[in-house]
Amino acid sequence: MSVRILALVGSLRAGSHNRQLAEAAVRFAPEGAEVEFFEGLAEVPFYNEDIDVEGGVPAAAVKLREAAQAADAFLFFSPEYNGTMPAVLKNAIDWLSRPFGAGAFNGKPVAVIGTAFGQYGGVWAQDDTRKAVGIAGGKVIEDIKLSIPGSVTRFAETHPADDTEVAAQLTEVVARLHGYADGAAA
Ligand SMILES: Cc1cc2nc3c(=O)[nH]c(=O)nc-3n(C[C@H](O)[C@H](O)[C@H](O)COP(=O)(O)O)c2cc1C
Repeated sequence: MSVRILALVGSLRAGSHNRQLAEAAVRFAPEGAEVEFFEGLAEVPFYNEDIDVEGGVPAAAVKLREAAQAADAFLFFSPEYNGTMPAVLKNAIDWLSRPFGAGAFNGKPVAVIGTAFGQYGGVWAQDDTRKAVGIAGGKVIEDIKLSIPGSVTRFAETHPADDTEVAAQLTEVVARLHGYADGAAA
């Protein structure tokens, strides 16, 4: 059975370079793994305990939780917004962190990568994402890291899938995460 890796992208814009990275990860998934891009983060309302009650959870949040429950591992793609992760990603983590102690991350492997315009490629955002998702119950794979600087210029003309260096790095990221999800730490 194929290992299911859910890709969550922290940028909503159509031309997002992080989204392009996720598209490339879908293409480069090794035999036995399937990377599924989650559509619909924009529709998930801000987390609110008052609506996180039986019968009250918005459909978009239910869809997110169901996709996460069905996943064996998670691959986050985060740009950096003002020194940290975009709100859309934090909101998804908050929804997936509940019910407390029984959220969808549930000890499953999580890797966080991404690209940002700054010279460090968004490391603050990706570190903050690791911190939050670990607290939310994910098993963060700390040694899978990929922070690509200069997003806006590097990928202005070239899709990440067509960038030889990035393609190789992404292939390795997905293969290693697959290894963890498969129980055979790569
Ligand atoms: C609101 C906002 C804040 C940003 N803050 C940072 C930042 O703190 N560090 C950084 O490296 N880039 C920052 N950027 C630039 C983004 O990293 C860059 O535009 C990136 O490509 C956005 O990701 P995307 O291409 O997936 O949409 C910011 C962009 C926006 C829109």
